[in-house]
Amino acid sequence: MRHSSTTRRDSLYLGGVIATGLAIGSCFPAATNAQAALDPITKPIPSTGERLPVIGLGTNQYSVTAPEDMARLQQVLEEMIAQGGSVVDTARVYGRAEEVIGDLVQKIGKRDRFFIATKTSIRGDISSPEAEIQAAFDRLKVDKLDLLLIHNLHALDQLMPAFIRAKEQGRIRYIGMSTSVDSQYAEQMEGMKRYPLDVIQVDYSIANRGAADEILPLAQERKMAVMVNMPFGGRGNAGNVTFGRVAGKGLPDWAKQIDATSWAQLFLKYAVSHPAVTVAIPGTTQVRHLIDNQGAGKGRLPDAALRREMERYWDTL
Ligand SMILES: NC(=O)c1ccc[n+]([C@@H]2O[C@H](COP(=O)([O-])OP(=O)(O)OC[C@H]3O[C@@H](n4cnc5c(N)ncnc54)[C@H](OP(=O)(O)O)[C@@H]3O)[C@@H](O)[C@H]2O)c1
Repeated sequence: MRHSSTTRRDSLYLGGVIATGLAIGSCFPAATNAQAALDPITKPIPSTGERLPVIGLGTNQYSVTAPEDMARLQQVLEEMIAQGGSVVDTARVYGRAEEVIGDLVQKIGKRDRFFIATKTSIRGDISSPEAEIQAAFDRLKVDKLDLLLIHNLHALDQLMPAFIRAKEQGRIRYIGMSTSVDSQYAEQMEGMKRYPLDVIQVDYSIANRGAADEILPLAQERKMAVMVNMPFGGRGNAGNVTFGRVAGKGLPDWAKQIDATSWAQLFLKYAVSHPAVTVAIPGTTQVRHLIDNQGAGKGRLPDAALRREMERYWDTL
C-alpha cells in the first residue's frame, strides 16, 4: 500500500483540474474528478509508523443478504480502494456486516489493499476470550486481522490479555478499544493508561467535540492512533446534527482554502485535521457518498486557525 502526504504542488494542481473538469463535464462533479487525481493524505499509526489514508469507511449498515445489496456494497468497497482509501471498520454487533465484508473482500481479491478493523461483542458474557477472537477471523474469513478493538469497553480486562497474546503471535497487527458515548470516556482513559494499545476509537465531530478535552490529548501522550467514529454526528442523528443544521446553506468562502466541495468534506476535514486523529470512518452504503467522503482525504486540511474559525461558524449556526 503506498500513500503520500499532500504537497503544495498537489493543491495547486487541484485548482487547475477543477477548472478543466468544469469545462469538459463528466459523470461525477468536477471537483470529485480533480480530487480523485490526487494521492490521499495519510497519517502514521504511532506504534509502527505505518501510514493510513485519513478517510476510511464505517459499515454498521452492511448487514445485507440480497444479491443486489451485496453488489451495491461491493461497488462501494471497490470504489474506496480505487480512490486510495483502505480502512474498513466493522463489528460483531452489526448483524451480518463482518460476513459481508469477508465475502466481498474475498470476491474483490485485493486483501492487502484493505485495512480491516473489527470489534468484539458487547452482548452477554465472554466465556472464552480466545473463542471471541476466533469468531472475528471466521466471520471475516481472514488469516490476519489488521485491527481488533474491544467494543464499548465490554469485558475489557477479560479480553485484553488474549488480545495481547494474539498480537504477539502475529495474528492481529494492532489492538485497541472503542467507545462512542461520553459516559464511557473516564473508563476509556483508564484503559488507555493500563494497556499497550495501538489504536483507540472514539466519537468526534464538529458537532460533538467532547473527545478533544481529554481523550485526544491522552492518545497523543500515549502515542496511540485515533480512529474517529460518527464524524457526521452519527447515523441516527445525521439528519439533524450535521447535515440537518446546514441544509439549504451554501458552503462558506473558506471552504475553498481547504479544497472542500461539500459539507461532508468540510465535516471530515475538520475531524481528521485534529493533530491526534489518524483516520475517520464515515458510514455510507452509497457510492456517491463514498466518493464525496474520500475527496475529503485529498487536497488541503485546515490549520489550527481555520479550525477555530470552523468551530466559531458552527457554534453560531
Ligand atoms: N461504539 C463504536 O465503536 C461505534 C459507534 C457508532 C459507530 N461506529 C462506527 O462508525 C461508523 C460511522 O458512524 P455512523 O455511520 O453511525 O455515523 P456517521 O458516519 O456520522 O453518519 C452516517 C450518516 O451520514 C450519511 N452520509 C455519509 N456520507 C455522506 C455524504 N457524503 N453526504 C451526505 N450524507 C452522508 C449516511 O447516509 P448514507 O448511508 O445514505 O450515505 C448516514 O446517514 C459506523 O459505520 C461504525 O463503523 C462505531
